[in-house]
Amino acid sequence: MKYGFFDDANREYVITDPKTPFPWINYLGNHDFFSLVSNTAGGYSFYKDAKFRRLNRYRYNNVPMDNGGRYFYINDGENIWSPGWKPVKTPLDHYECRHGLSYTTIKGQKADIEAEVTFFVPLNAWAEVQKMKLTNKGKTEKTFKLFSYNEWCLWNAEDDQNNLQRNLSTGEVEIDGATLYHKTEYKERRNHYAFYHLNQEIDGYDTDRESFIGLYNEFSNPRAVLDGKPSNSEAHGWSPIASHYKEITLAPGESTDLIFILGYIENEEEEKWESKGVINKTKAKALIDQYNTVEKVDAALKELADYWTELLSVITLNHADDKLNRMVNIWNQYQCMVTFNMSRSASFFEVGIGRGMGFRDSNQDLIGFVHQVPERARERIIDIASTQFPDGGCYHQYQPLTKRGNDAIGGGFNDDPMWLILGTVSYIKESGDFSILDEMVPFDNDPSLAQTLFDHLTISFNHVINNLGPNGLPLIGRADWNDCLNLNCFSKDPNESFQTTENNTEGSKAESVMIAGLFVVYGTDYVALCQELGKTEEAERAQNCVDAMKEAVKQFGWDGEWFLRAYDFYGNKVGSDENEEGKIFIESQGWCSMAEIGLEEGMVEKALDSVKERLDTPYGIVLNNPAFTEYKIEYGEISTYPAGYKENAGIFCHNNPWIMIGETKLGRGNQAWEYFKQICPAYLEDIHDLHKVEPYVYCQMIAGKDAYKPGEGKNSWLSGTAAWNFYTVVQHILGVSPEYKGLKVDPCIPNEWDTYSINRKFRGGEYAITISNPDKVSKGVAKLIVNGEVIEGNIIPDLGEGNHKVEVIMGTTSLVDSASAEAVVAE
Ligand code: BGC
Ligand code: NOJ
Repeated sequence: MKYGFFDDANREYVITDPKTPFPWINYLGNHDFFSLVSNTAGGYSFYKDAKFRRLNRYRYNNVPMDNGGRYFYINDGENIWSPGWKPVKTPLDHYECRHGLSYTTIKGQKADIEAEVTFFVPLNAWAEVQKMKLTNKGKTEKTFKLFSYNEWCLWNAEDDQNNLQRNLSTGEVEIDGATLYHKTEYKERRNHYAFYHLNQEIDGYDTDRESFIGLYNEFSNPRAVLDGKPSNSEAHGWSPIASHYKEITLAPGESTDLIFILGYIENEEEEKWESKGVINKTKAKALIDQYNTVEKVDAALKELADYWTELLSVITLNHADDKLNRMVNIWNQYQCMVTFNMSRSASFFEVGIGRGMGFRDSNQDLIGFVHQVPERARERIIDIASTQFPDGGCYHQYQPLTKRGNDAIGGGFNDDPMWLILGTVSYIKESGDFSILDEMVPFDNDPSLAQTLFDHLTISFNHVINNLGPNGLPLIGRADWNDCLNLNCFSKDPNESFQTTENNTEGSKAESVMIAGLFVVYGTDYVALCQELGKTEEAERAQNCVDAMKEAVKQFGWDGEWFLRAYDFYGNKVGSDENEEGKIFIESQGWCSMAEIGLEEGMVEKALDSVKERLDTPYGIVLNNPAFTEYKIEYGEISTYPAGYKENAGIFCHNNPWIMIGETKLGRGNQAWEYFKQICPAYLEDIHDLHKVEPYVYCQMIAGKDAYKPGEGKNSWLSGTAAWNFYTVVQHILGVSPEYKGLKVDPCIPNEWDTYSINRKFRGGEYAITISNPDKVSKGVAKLIVNGEVIEGNIIPDLGEGNHKVEVIMGTTSLVDSASAEAVVAE
């Protein structure tokens, strides 16, 4: 069954049935203030940090699903209903939800009243604006009652759920006409409050939840709505809310517009109060004044749309395949912005209190985002690097509000440091801005320990070689990219988390072949960077380390038909044919293939053939095989998951692109493309009921072949999958990637493709690149013509400002010698 469709012209996904197989959500806000909004208006908003500054309460994993949101109720005397269907769930005569780029419009119609609400966070505003249009579609006059509903969270979302003995006594509000203020804890240590405003006079309100809903009623049948009148309640403790009440009469065909504003304000200590106990509302009124008319709101919506048009214009694909166009041009890029903003903090699967920004996660997110707003990427890199320890290890996560490392999880994930090289190099290649390397960046957020960012990269590189195991391979530490391969954990206690428990690395022989491959890939990038900077000695030293690592992998990381995954604490092989379960893992096949370790000896080809044979399924490539069916204490969390889920043989979409890139190294464009399509959401429209999660974004995991329901998706939105797939399809399949000196063109495509074009803005210039494939090859550039001149090699030089026309002709007889690719000589 289909629940909606793509409207590419409007850059929207249109949901036509509110009963989607799971809430299909959207994100509002691009900076500082964010909201999550489902297709039935569920969700919540926060300022910067979903844990510390949450504005409204949300009930995760509740019954019914998706409980809590910005709700509207209409009572026309006969029907009580909500424009988003939920929470009342009265069947609607018409329902439509349009998720667009940073806005969502939900339209519901019942008994000739149409209610359309557009939710968005204006650019640079600390507010969610809700523009509502009510229309009488009938032939007779309509009088009805409208209620809004917003339940405040007492700021710290974790404490809000935990500390009821305190919280049920602290809630405080202020009522000022149609602006309902939430000021819990404002009189003590907080300098912030929130408000919910309506731009019209109201006929009543409620600010106390029990008065509005009734103790034994529910969101679906609040007492005030049933009775058709509010209590004008003022909350004292318990659960403060903000609900406006308005009586509306509309002549046939008549419409009225209402603007609701949910805002967040911070005041300086000395400006907190208007008078004793009365909050200073100056800033709130100014914020309201920015968006309190339809004209102002429409202008803000237009500004938002223009902002996205501009962002998306950096990379645009024109291909015969619409599904590919819509992923590359709209949805995949959009998801990359969201993962950049959220890291792994707040989604419908991440509750916003557990994890902040991940060190490895946020670095990887950059590869899908850096072209959009390089300046923000720059700032992020510095923030991330500031949480590194002086020895190169890293805090695994940090809180976005404080930018401080998260002590609960600490560090010790030995892959973390290498991702900083990826993030930084990606930024420089995109922007050409080498000055970032000279920035003084603290360690452990301590400015007295600051060194240059380049030093951070050297220290990151060295962290791997300072932590080698008995086979010369990197020690894994707490875990590498696979957080669940806990080779030093040995947990027997169900009350401890695998992620935070004390590890026993003392005397451990646990080594990671995945980190070895990662080190070769980004170590090679580090070498190239040193060369670029003229640091030839450092380049040579680093190259020797990389070469030694390649040898170590060939000698100790090869199992005969594929790359081993690791060695365990005792020095036993992990991911070997010798093992009963978990014989082969995807990560090391991906990384060692990308690193081209043993390419000449045929290792890459064999490894990738083994992936195809043992890990591939119609829904994507599983992480390992055979799945673990018993708890292996020396492997940790991976073996706790039932077979086929998550890290235990689930299809972890994040790592599928590593295999696609590996395939492109071999020139196997058909295979890379098949793998791409298997997990790409736009191609899964026919299996919505099975796939379950949003068809416009990637999810982290699809149930694998050993699972109860292979093909079922989970954990949508916040996953490195977004950035990796975008990066892979654009840079390795379509084949246009930024390099220090210009744009490299090296497609690896299905051989049946004829032609496609990419418009690429790059460092102030705009390149219209057309790629044609007359000989039906998968790889190879036979000729590169830039502004009418034939160029040797496959790098379009950075030509600066202006429009540049590029023609790429693929073919078997390549004129391109990649070794001399950087020598740009006109024919
Ligand atoms: C999940 C991983 C995740 C880790 C850290 C584990 O339970 O399976 O995917 O990286 O938690 O939060
Ligand atoms: C999700 C985490 O966010 C990421 O850091 C990790 O690499 C993967 N899971 C794999 O375990």
